[in-house]
Amino acid sequence: MNGKFITFEGPEGSGKTSVIIGVEKFLTEEGYSILTTREPGGIKIAEDIRSIILDIDNTEMDAHAEALLFAASRSQHFNEKILPALEDNKIILCDRFIDSSLAYQGHARELGIDKVYEINKFAIGDQLPELTIFIDVPPSVGLKRVFSNSRKIDRLDLESLKFHEKVYEGYMIIAKKYINRFKLVDGTQPIEKVIDDTIKIIKNIL
Ligand code: TMP
Repeated sequence: MNGKFITFEGPEGSGKTSVIIGVEKFLTEEGYSILTTREPGGIKIAEDIRSIILDIDNTEMDAHAEALLFAASRSQHFNEKILPALEDNKIILCDRFIDSSLAYQGHARELGIDKVYEINKFAIGDQLPELTIFIDVPPSVGLKRVFSNSRKIDRLDLESLKFHEKVYEGYMIIAKKYINRFKLVDGTQPIEKVIDDTIKIIKNIL
């Protein structure tokens, strides 16, 4: 397999979706074959699971059920869409992946990073991204952006600032654990600079 699997992570409102659009444009112009996708979602079954997980009315959702639903959607997405694209030598730009589960469900929901990794291993095997770009913004800044723009608010956005600070803390644990693939980019800079910094890191693996 000569494809490249690159994931993007960050707190709510980090701007990673805009960064992905900028990176996709640059790499496409350079002649690379790109597949852009997202989690939870990316294909029908996983998008259906996404709407259940993020529905603001599902306030009673149990943390274990939440972690399992994310893992289920990931299994379908990975096997149906990501693996075939990797085999087709594409560069995959994926908005969130396993590290979101480790930070949100493993650390912030206190299920345990290792435990959540285990259920994901059942879902996707040992496969990890080759590179993960973490768009680094303080949770309070990101949340302010979410609530002041037009993006639809979901169930996880509505968690407390304390929860989102714990998510961030989880990401910092993951950053130390996966120091070789997990790269931080300052997301408080102007968007063009965030995209440029990200492209510089990606070029190292192309
Ligand atoms: P998004 O807003 O970036 O599309 O992500 C949807 C929400 O789902 C966001 O609050 C992060 C959360 N999430 C998890 O809690 N665990 C996961 O494994 C994934 C992929 C997302």
